[in-house]
Amino acid sequence: IEDLSCTMVVFGGTGDLTHRKLIPAIYNLEVEGLLPKNFAVVAIGRRDLTDEDYRNKKYEGIKDFSRFKLDEAIWNKVKDRIYYKKLDFTNAEAYNELAPYLKGIDTKHNTGGNRIYYLAVAPEFFGNIVENLDRAGINHIKNTWQRVVIEKPFGRNLESAEELNTKIVNVFKEENTYRIDHYLGKEMLQNIMVIRFANMLFEPLWNNRYIDNVQITSCETVGVGSRGGYYEKSGAMRDMIQSHMLQLLSLIAMDKPSNLDPNTIRDEKVKVINALKELSEEEVKENVVRGQYGANNNEKGYREEERVAKDSETETYVALKAEVENARWAGVPFYIRTGKKMPKKSTEVIIQFKLEEDRLYFNEDELLPNTLVIRVQPMEGVFLQFNAKEPGTRKKIAPVHMDFCQNCQVGINSPEAYERLLYDVMRGDATLFARWDEVSASWKYVDGIIEAWKNDRPQFPNYKSGTWGPKEALDLLDEEDRKWLEV
Ligand code: BG6
Repeated sequence: IEDLSCTMVVFGGTGDLTHRKLIPAIYNLEVEGLLPKNFAVVAIGRRDLTDEDYRNKKYEGIKDFSRFKLDEAIWNKVKDRIYYKKLDFTNAEAYNELAPYLKGIDTKHNTGGNRIYYLAVAPEFFGNIVENLDRAGINHIKNTWQRVVIEKPFGRNLESAEELNTKIVNVFKEENTYRIDHYLGKEMLQNIMVIRFANMLFEPLWNNRYIDNVQITSCETVGVGSRGGYYEKSGAMRDMIQSHMLQLLSLIAMDKPSNLDPNTIRDEKVKVINALKELSEEEVKENVVRGQYGANNNEKGYREEERVAKDSETETYVALKAEVENARWAGVPFYIRTGKKMPKKSTEVIIQFKLEEDRLYFNEDELLPNTLVIRVQPMEGVFLQFNAKEPGTRKKIAPVHMDFCQNCQVGINSPEAYERLLYDVMRGDATLFARWDEVSASWKYVDGIIEAWKNDRPQFPNYKSGTWGPKEALDLLDEEDRKWLEV
């Protein structure tokens, strides 16, 4: 069993992610009894704070954001393991001082010198921090493990991602590099492989003979809020499709791996992304729809948001039809959509099966295709729709549902993605992290679309805040006699 003892060094220690997600996750791991005994967090930031100031702020953060209620006894066990270190991480000199400081913490908490370097800073600093750590020899400690965790975005196209990747793996090697895609930490994403491969019921039907189409939706009610600066340079294609949506697609479409080894699983996932049909400029026009929300009643339009250009062409919505060109999936469209300022927050995957070909009940217009719905959030569960005779009628057929709602059951309080992911970094399990070839394959696909967009100016805004996106997204399926199934 791997030794989980370690010091976690968080760059961006006063940032939002650390406040809302990382420190609450650490606290929740302690509640669950999963936090190693020999463990410390060193939060690095530019502000002038004492350990005490910092702990007090994080205490408030846990109150606001932790899934378990703050319990003083548990907090007391956690708080003395949290430190704040003021440091300008862009200054290479400063790392000379960081080295002995971290050694001191290692000794005090008996961590054996194992470390996690968590980069929760703006992406332009990723490469620089890693190089500075290396130059100061901070990560060169014999007989220890040294791992780096990189938040998204991992580059903004294939070229910049490659450049960043080279810098990182030069210092940490691929096996010690943990690229976060927080969707992979969600319970139901981890469940997709189990549902598919631990049941005889689905896998034999999981192909183009029986499946008509797959719909993957992740919609949000929120807009860009205070993240306009980042989002302007990103847009929904880079922000959601390149990462979360393609990860979801690869889990749905992958072949059965021969074992559960992290690399075997990721080998299968990356094959799917590599098999995505490349779209020509003409095909991008036909198969990809982009949108941007406009004002509606009291709701601001995207162009009115903070740090967003008044004539911004950044997309806040994307719907597209993807095709996986392999024997299993040839001819099956994967419709993917994601958007901000939608009527509802929901992430789900709908597998729509074909209708029986030689239908006995062909006169029955109520006959609906079977659908299997994997609900990721906010509801977690699996739902199956099939046809049955309506009681009391002679032969009226109606769709019925079998529901497994995972988080409706009392006492189920699913761990948050970051708890699972941090724990996995400590254990050295990279299954739920994006490997470099997955990241590069997704960029390749997404870059092709973004490139084609450059020659075609969008007419924005084209959907009202609080609605289901531009009309063209409906046409996308309409033209093929299909429709988006309700999420
Ligand atoms: C992030 C994106 O990766 O995922 C955000 O940068 C988005 O723009 C968020 O809001 C959605 O995550 P979740 O877990 O709320 O679905």
